[in-house]
Amino acid sequence: MRKPMAVANWKMNKNGEETRQFLRDYMAQASGITGAEAVICPPFTLLATVQQEIGSPAALARGAQNCFWEDKGAYTGEISAPMLKELGCSYVIIGHSERRLIMGENDEQINRKLKAVLQCGLVPILCVGETLQQRENKAALTVVKNQLDKNLQGLHVQPGQLVIAYEPVWAIGTGVNASSDDAQEMIACIRSRLRELFNDELASATRILYGGSVREDNAADLMAKPDIDGALIGGASLEADSFVRIARIIAHG
Ligand code: PGA
Repeated sequence: MRKPMAVANWKMNKNGEETRQFLRDYMAQASGITGAEAVICPPFTLLATVQQEIGSPAALARGAQNCFWEDKGAYTGEISAPMLKELGCSYVIIGHSERRLIMGENDEQINRKLKAVLQCGLVPILCVGETLQQRENKAALTVVKNQLDKNLQGLHVQPGQLVIAYEPVWAIGTGVNASSDDAQEMIACIRSRLRELFNDELASATRILYGGSVREDNAADLMAKPDIDGALIGGASLEADSFVRIARIIAHG
């Protein structure tokens, strides 16, 4: 059984006081959400605050939004997987389209980062997805398959140690989400590619999320699909009320 996930991707938002307020609101409202795993991915600077406020990852698990592939050394400005582990992270988002497109991260770098995260015993949340132009050119399936092949090359991964998020670039932060049918189609293809690259056990155990303008009013429709195991939520995760409501929908989906 794949436990569904509600993952908050805060991107470059919030300061310490806003984070403490979010966590107070979240803890006041989130009791009883047992059917989904809630994960919060704040900026690096706020991970220690989250760890101080919420000791147990069982109440709210933590993730980072990126990391470097080396454990330590002369890499000014970078943060390693062991550093994130020390701050209580269980997850690391890798290959988000904002990093691929704005920071120019390439498939080889993403592959190295995935290996470093796994090596450290953390679970990567690998983001894949096509641009609008690629979808209009009917290249979406090829683009995503290609990302998977390159990003996952040579990975030693056990069932349950990998999460994938399908995030069509044109749906991120635009208010235009993929239809549940299109998301299901792509996510089923991702699962079958995992079967080919690894094995059936890994493909069946891997949680595959949808991300891109997930809100309260479209979450139920998306979660009703058999292969969609949760959501990576940007804008709608910044308010505790809306994140909790979406997490509840995911838990019951
Ligand atoms: P969004 O972002 O929910 O604001 O579209 C999702 C993401 O980029 O992970």
